[in-house]
Amino acid sequence: MGSLGASRLIREPLKRGTSLDHLEYVDMTPIIGREYPTAKLKAMLEAPNADEQLRDLAILISERGVVVFRAPQDDLTIDDQKHITDQLGRLTGRPAEHGLHVHPLYNDPNNIPMADGTTDEHIYVINSEAAKKLYATMKDRPGAADEPRDLGREWHSDSLYENAPSDFSFLRMESTPATGGDTLWASGYELYDRLSGPFRRFLETLTATCAQPVFATACAAGGYAVASPRGSPLNVGAAFAPSHPVVRTNPVTGWKSVFAGLGLHVSRIDGVTSYEDALIRDYLLRLLTRNHDGVARLHWTRGACAIWTNVSTLHAATPDTHLVDGIRTGVRASGIGEVPYLDPASTGRREALGLPQY
Ligand SMILES: [Fe+2]
Repeated sequence: MGSLGASRLIREPLKRGTSLDHLEYVDMTPIIGREYPTAKLKAMLEAPNADEQLRDLAILISERGVVVFRAPQDDLTIDDQKHITDQLGRLTGRPAEHGLHVHPLYNDPNNIPMADGTTDEHIYVINSEAAKKLYATMKDRPGAADEPRDLGREWHSDSLYENAPSDFSFLRMESTPATGGDTLWASGYELYDRLSGPFRRFLETLTATCAQPVFATACAAGGYAVASPRGSPLNVGAAFAPSHPVVRTNPVTGWKSVFAGLGLHVSRIDGVTSYEDALIRDYLLRLLTRNHDGVARLHWTRGACAIWTNVSTLHAATPDTHLVDGIRTGVRASGIGEVPYLDPASTGRREALGLPQY
């Protein structure tokens, strides 16, 4: 059915070629995630058909949600990582004027530098020691003493607060404790596929405001300017309050996904009452957490890389590295994709692949 409807789509889905078929892999779960235990991204870049392989990789990530390269990618430079992240979007039809995201708080003088002591506006540095300091300031918040932490609030897709949010994110783990700090990815395709027909049709009429006023506040308090533009002429200024569709079509696969209906960066479903807003977002989060067969979990090892699509997945960090010895540090690059849209002619993943409805 998907192929019959394809010609009516706003963007024709891309067909994955065979350029990666020589690589050994294992799927992390039947529904989401793939891991390459031995493949080297550097070899992919140095191959005569590098762009063909990167295009197939981008389509694969769009299909599987997240792809992990387990062998330490020690020979990959920061420029390589930026190039790969950028090419994944370029080779799959991203707007030509879009590039790599710049974090809104990049100008903060307290930002953690990369291992060589430098900073790069297109690289976001993750560091568990810095996170520990942040948590230390948050532990006295109201309710902190008598409630377990609600890790449901960790779920998000990257830079949803931008008019044009991220398509692909690429995280390389430079060092990690022996245990702790896992990252989880949930399939937005599967969330969509598990909704009833009437509820799908209702959610498809909705948008959500993804406001993140904290950036403008932080910049004002720190006395520096919000970084701008941030990977797109559309991502400028300090408003950070776009409206995005609750159900979105991934232009690479042509499949529908739950998108701005839940997660850290979603502040309000538009046009409904506050009760209804809470009901919809609570329901979608419950659907995600009660259906962990749509979730892949990665135990990081040194030098491992994960590349994911923010169009059709949400991800969550696990803030438990304070319980163990060892520092978790990583570097992330994110591309900026198209302005999110819902194509009414698109279908869910299961329908497109001829799989039974869940
Ligand atoms: Fe993230």
